Amino acid sequence: MAVLLFLLSAILAVKAGVGDTATRRNVLFLVVDDLRPKLGCYGETNMVTPNIDQFASKSVMFERAYVQQAVCSPSRTSFLTGRRPDTTRIFDLVHYFRHLAGNYTTLPEHFKNNGYITQSVGKIFHPGAASGFTDDYPYSWSNQAYHAPTKKYTSKKICPGPDGTLTHSAVCPVDLKTVMGGSLPDIQNTDYTIEFLKNRSMDHKPFFVGMGYHRPHLPFAYPKEYLDLYPMSKIKLAPNPYYPAWLPEVAWTPWDELRSYDDVGAMNLSYPFGSVPIDYQYKLRQSYSAAASYTDAQVGRVLQALDQYGLADNTVITFHGDHGWQLGEHGEWCKHTNFDIATRIPMFVHVPGVTAKKTPPGRMFPFIDALDKSLKFQPEKSSLGEGYSSDAFVEAVDLYATISELAGVDVPPTCPENPFKIPFCTEGASFVPVIKNLTMTSRSNDVTSAGNSFAWKQAIFSQYPRPGVHPGHTSVNPVLDDINIMGYTMRTVDHRYTEWIGYNHTTFTADWSKVYARELYIYSSDPDEDVNVAEVPAFKDLTVYLTEQLRAGWRSALPAQK
Ligand SMILES: *[C@@H]1O[C@H](CO)[C@@H](O)[C@H](O)[C@H]1NC(C)=O
Ligand SMILES: *[C@@H]1O[C@H](CO)[C@@H](O)[C@H](O)[C@H]1NC(C)=O
Ligand SMILES: *[C@@H]1O[C@H](CO)[C@@H](O)[C@H](O)[C@H]1NC(C)=O
Ligand SMILES: *[C@@H]1O[C@H](CO)[C@@H](O)[C@H](O)[C@H]1NC(C)=O
Ligand SMILES: *[C@@H]1O[C@H](CO)[C@@H](O)[C@H](O)[C@H]1NC(C)=O
Repeated sequence: MAVLLFLLSAILAVKAGVGDTATRRNVLFLVVDDLRPKLGCYGETNMVTPNIDQFASKSVMFERAYVQQAVCSPSRTSFLTGRRPDTTRIFDLVHYFRHLAGNYTTLPEHFKNNGYITQSVGKIFHPGAASGFTDDYPYSWSNQAYHAPTKKYTSKKICPGPDGTLTHSAVCPVDLKTVMGGSLPDIQNTDYTIEFLKNRSMDHKPFFVGMGYHRPHLPFAYPKEYLDLYPMSKIKLAPNPYYPAWLPEVAWTPWDELRSYDDVGAMNLSYPFGSVPIDYQYKLRQSYSAAASYTDAQVGRVLQALDQYGLADNTVITFHGDHGWQLGEHGEWCKHTNFDIATRIPMFVHVPGVTAKKTPPGRMFPFIDALDKSLKFQPEKSSLGEGYSSDAFVEAVDLYATISELAGVDVPPTCPENPFKIPFCTEGASFVPVIKNLTMTSRSNDVTSAGNSFAWKQAIFSQYPRPGVHPGHTSVNPVLDDINIMGYTMRTVDHRYTEWIGYNHTTFTADWSKVYARELYIYSSDPDEDVNVAEVPAFKDLTVYLTEQLRAGWRSALPAQK
């Protein structure tokens, strides 16, 4: 009898195990460098992004998604660990969270611990010192991260200048037939991911693949054909290309990143407040758009492969940017600020059978070639199918818990204060309730709190460090030892409120009693954050109220626990 029972429980255990893996979903984690929501599906009708638009039409699109710090490694470290910058202690591009803060279980590591093959392709962690010179391998990944062979030419002179000599320029359309290395990193990374997916369709191992696109990050190096999608006559300048009224200087970035390229550097623009000549603003905006369309094609290739290999019906797909990008708004360029335009990102979540009906292989994400002239591509008609959009506040730090829940692995608990010694917890919140609220409202009983009574986050939180109150070369992206001020910012439905306060980089402590500057933007009258009214006496009571909310922080903004 005992033997029988043992056998029976052994069989049940095996069955349960198989059952588990069968209900577990794969994860395709798409991250795009420097992509703001400048996409057709976000209402930018001049943009040609048909593959992302098609993906959006089968996903939930988030209108109010934000990162925790508007620069690569701090943002990526935050969403990959599910913790905010004050807990990763990563505010710069040179420190590694495992050395500085704690031995946290990352999102891919969590999946690896749960029996998944985890693979990084392209830029997922910020490479180099910021991820221990290993892209956090072997902690996070089953195999070493893959980087395209042509990545090594990124800082080389590959852009044909006006006289044909090669330069290292911001504006960099290239001819794939003659470009150094004969390809570009995103194309090669995409090829690799497609091969990875093909292998998984044969061995059926559960996978988590992080595919990180480089464009539209500078330099805007893309196949020159994509320029044809953006005739100069269609390019518009930023509507607000001026220094915001009453903006404290500490909030300003002098955009050294853009100035470091041959084309912009040669203009010898005045520092730190000079503006880019109008003709070059057009060129930069045109090339940013072309680079985004080029990226769209690579995203489309990966999605099509996932679909054709029969994996789409069991794979959760997320897509998001690592921060926004200023294209002349406020007279600013690149990221490195607390403005909405720098912290807001595109974000989509696709859940098979939930955000779109399952289809036979090959029908979900057919590739759309925007360069195929016979298609007579019409951007304004590109949002096929229904799709869902949500204006609920979501933060990149929420992705860890959300993806875990959607894929069917353990959801990390909310971290207590000072969670430096706790490997597995999160400072984000799963936004699966938001997805369910949207997609399942008709199936009444699935959602406990659908409709108007549904309570969600009241605010989102980001931050940006500075060395001092005046802009200089180290204020764009200060290294830890230079940081003396932290700008904490909070966005609510109606306002953005920011305080730039003292910060001790030795003890990692913020001093709320030392306020250098404040910013307040009121969206009802100032949707683009052009007028800082924090010091206007009429808004004194409002700032007092928002100060309390900002200092109470993200925990106080969470939906009330049931
Ligand atoms: C960090 O955690 C991993 C498990 O995730 C463990 O193997 C490793 O030894 C830890 N390293 C340190 C320095 O504590
Ligand atoms: C796919 O599988 C083949 C055969 O095992 C192997 O040589 C190749 O490296 C794999 N490629 C990827 C991207 O995993
Ligand atoms: C660059 O501009 C500054 C003034 O902004 C001027 O003093 C300097 O001579 C210029 N340098 C070159 C190389 O044109
Ligand atoms: C929940 O769904 C309702 C009805 O679609 C919508 O009005 C509401 O804004 C949603 N709530 C959240 C927080 O997404
Ligand atoms: C930061 O804290 C350290 C350690 O307590 C202290 O020695 C240092 O003076 C502080 N720095 C500032 C700028 O207050």
